[in-house]
Amino acid sequence: MKTKEIREGSVSIKVPEVRMPEEGEVFYNPAMAFDRSISVCFCELAGLEKALDALSATGIRALRYKKEAGIGVTANDCNPKAVKLIRDNMKRNKIKVGVSEKDANILMRQEHFDFVDLDPFGSPIGFVDSACASIGRKGFLAFTATDKAPLSGTYPKVSERRYGIRSMKTDYYNELGLRILLSAVMRIFARYERRFTPLLSYSRLHYFRIYGKVEKGVKRINRQLRDWGVVSHCFKCGWRDLALKKKCPLCGEATQFCRVYLGGIQDADFLDKLVGRLQSRMFVQEEKLVNKIREEISFPLYYDLHYLYKKTGRKPDKMETTMEKLREKGFRASRTHFCPTAVKTNASFKDIIELI
Ligand SMILES: C[S@@+](CC[C@H](N)C(=O)[O-])C[C@H]1O[C@@H](n2cnc3c(N)ncnc32)[C@H](O)[C@@H]1O
Ligand SMILES: [Zn+2]
Repeated sequence: MKTKEIREGSVSIKVPEVRMPEEGEVFYNPAMAFDRSISVCFCELAGLEKALDALSATGIRALRYKKEAGIGVTANDCNPKAVKLIRDNMKRNKIKVGVSEKDANILMRQEHFDFVDLDPFGSPIGFVDSACASIGRKGFLAFTATDKAPLSGTYPKVSERRYGIRSMKTDYYNELGLRILLSAVMRIFARYERRFTPLLSYSRLHYFRIYGKVEKGVKRINRQLRDWGVVSHCFKCGWRDLALKKKCPLCGEATQFCRVYLGGIQDADFLDKLVGRLQSRMFVQEEKLVNKIREEISFPLYYDLHYLYKKTGRKPDKMETTMEKLREKGFRASRTHFCPTAVKTNASFKDIIELI
């Protein structure tokens, strides 16, 4: 395998020369440096003792977590070529991290970690049961999902098989997709009497990423279960509501619906602290994203104005103007990182359409 040297954060590592390595080769995507920088700050804030980079590839996450956040960490990958590269990269940076060459699911059943980071190809869902076993009573989990197409409604049956919830291609597909993923993860934890509480959740490029804390306790889970609800959507006129309605009240068409977690997906206190960390490390783009998320109102789902103006045939207003009008009517309104042309608001579909 031909390699080249790159610098990311405060480590310099060898990565495969080709961007899209063939099967069996080691994977490195420079675009994910963004997320790794956020993860470094997360590690620092969480006050961790023993972290696991379960699907490590070049070892970049583990090495940065150790060097930049100063935490104890193990880098694991089942691909021997990846493990060789991890060892080389460790020596090159004179950093010591644990190195393991196991199936991640086996390692997580054997060893306890207080933070597990799952950064797989595609879906993380097949690793979540073992992550739960490894974390035990209390800890943290972060995961990436790059299978946005099934989650966002392009392949609803795949979503139903993989996550137990049929996805829908709505104008708010990015947030609904993330909530389907999160709901499936919460369900797995609940099965073992653990509660998974999201601290930071976002959609970016081709992936979703969620960071959260894990705690034991049935009462806590029961409280969280109250935040589940039904999203009903009419694919004829675009109407939607956060309640089960089998027929669209506007046009009479049969709706489609799914049941997901509708509670908070960010933790405001945590985001405040995270922004401080990102600022002090001068992770400028990362800070921009987290700030955008901080300004979002916490009401679930959003309206893509682009889509609604097109659907109603009205001349589009500026985003700011529409948000101002909503506020004048007594609603809350904000932009959202999920979609540049969308607003988050507690106004109903009918309210928005009337306003448009
Ligand atoms: C997307 S890459 C990881 C990228 C890396 N986390 C980063 O930030 O650059 C996924 C890695 O998971 C490894 N992998 C896939 N299935 C695995 C399993 N069951 N156990 C351990 N490693 C696995 C692959 O060999 C690959 O290196
Ligand atoms: Zn309708």
